[in-house]
Amino acid sequence: MALTRREFAQAFALSGTAALFPSRAWGMDDFDVTTAPLPRRPAAPDEKYWQDVRARFLLPRDVIFVNAANLCPSPMPVVESLYATTRGYEANPSPAARSALMRDGREAARTLLATMLGTTAEEIVITRNTSEGNNYVSSGLQLGPEDEVIVFSDNHPTNLNAWREKAKRFGFTVTTVQHVVPHPGADHYVDLFAKAITPRTRLIGFTHLTSNSGDLFPAKEICAMARSRGVLTLLDGAQTFGALDVNLGDIRPDFYTGSAHKWPCGPKECGVLFVNKDVHDRIWPSVIGVYPGAVGISRKLEGMGQRDDARLVALAEAIRFRESIGRAVIEERLRQLSGFLVGELKKLDGVHVYTDPSPDRSANLVVFRPGSLDPRRFSMALAEKDGVVATLRGGQDRPGLRISPHLYNTMDEMERVVAATKRELGL
Ligand SMILES: Cc1ncc(COP(=O)(O)O)c(C=O)c1O
Repeated sequence: MALTRREFAQAFALSGTAALFPSRAWGMDDFDVTTAPLPRRPAAPDEKYWQDVRARFLLPRDVIFVNAANLCPSPMPVVESLYATTRGYEANPSPAARSALMRDGREAARTLLATMLGTTAEEIVITRNTSEGNNYVSSGLQLGPEDEVIVFSDNHPTNLNAWREKAKRFGFTVTTVQHVVPHPGADHYVDLFAKAITPRTRLIGFTHLTSNSGDLFPAKEICAMARSRGVLTLLDGAQTFGALDVNLGDIRPDFYTGSAHKWPCGPKECGVLFVNKDVHDRIWPSVIGVYPGAVGISRKLEGMGQRDDARLVALAEAIRFRESIGRAVIEERLRQLSGFLVGELKKLDGVHVYTDPSPDRSANLVVFRPGSLDPRRFSMALAEKDGVVATLRGGQDRPGLRISPHLYNTMDEMERVVAATKRELGL
């Protein structure tokens, strides 16, 4: 049975955190998409430049898509690359053509990922997503009844429940550090994790920037503290990979995970697992098969069998698109869009913004409660009337709306989100 868009949105809204889809038709006529190369970025990018970026996305112009924390659309060079490579293979499905693609496309993507993250290709595994990367770590370390893992309560289930499930099987203990609302500051969190360490602690699994409140964590400091105590770190970077100018050479976690289909705007079902060269001998492969990567840890962890080569080629294209704009420039833009929202929403009577505006406590996600309004109705209204695609946070834990703007959003769209909130609050 086909659902109308409204029924679809309502079905989604029934389950906890849900992205809401506007009921308007996503008409092809209001597009001004171009496949022309992105103009050279000015030294100080203005709104015109960001509109040029937006013109490389198939997003309808009357949809305000602020749901990057969940999944991102890809720019035209990525869409076209995926299509062209798939088509090329289907027209010439010879093993020779395929193996060239497989080898060159995948390794080019690995090199670009390494540069983007300030590390080496030997430390990069190309996965399906953050979920897989996190699970490769919790399944791949040799842990037993003598060992303990510390997790953070605001972690994604793949870095929280996954540890608890595996603890039942392998016998290690899991201790949970509780999140604090509002963000108590970097030192407080470094201290909380330091105090939780015991002589049995082997790893701390935490999140770079949480999807529940947008809280940014002092990743470098927590990793340094853990290293000084002989404890490994798994840093879940689902909300920072491709959003912030992440330099793993500087942060120095043992493991870092991310999804290319989120902030990097890459093809779907593509991700990264960074394994610090110091711990290559500490992790076992979860999948043992053929066609591994060509260098470093990918030889051990990436033998996943047949893959969609076109997707790996398109991943490289996504990174090139991103790099042509610039890592620091993108981070600054995301901070500008989110910062504007936090500032304006805080001014509205009754609105509670969970996200702390200080640059060391947040960056690219904003979560807020719309006064006494029912968050579900509020987000439905914004979806229906304004075309806002955001994430509803239902339930009791920080209920409200999560807005995650990206490089395809304009300042005008942020103003429209604020105006729509005002209208719904009757202000
Ligand atoms: C912090 C965090 N980790 C992991 C994930 C899982 O990402 P994926 O479904 O791409 O594996 C998410 C998804 O939103 C997330 O926010």
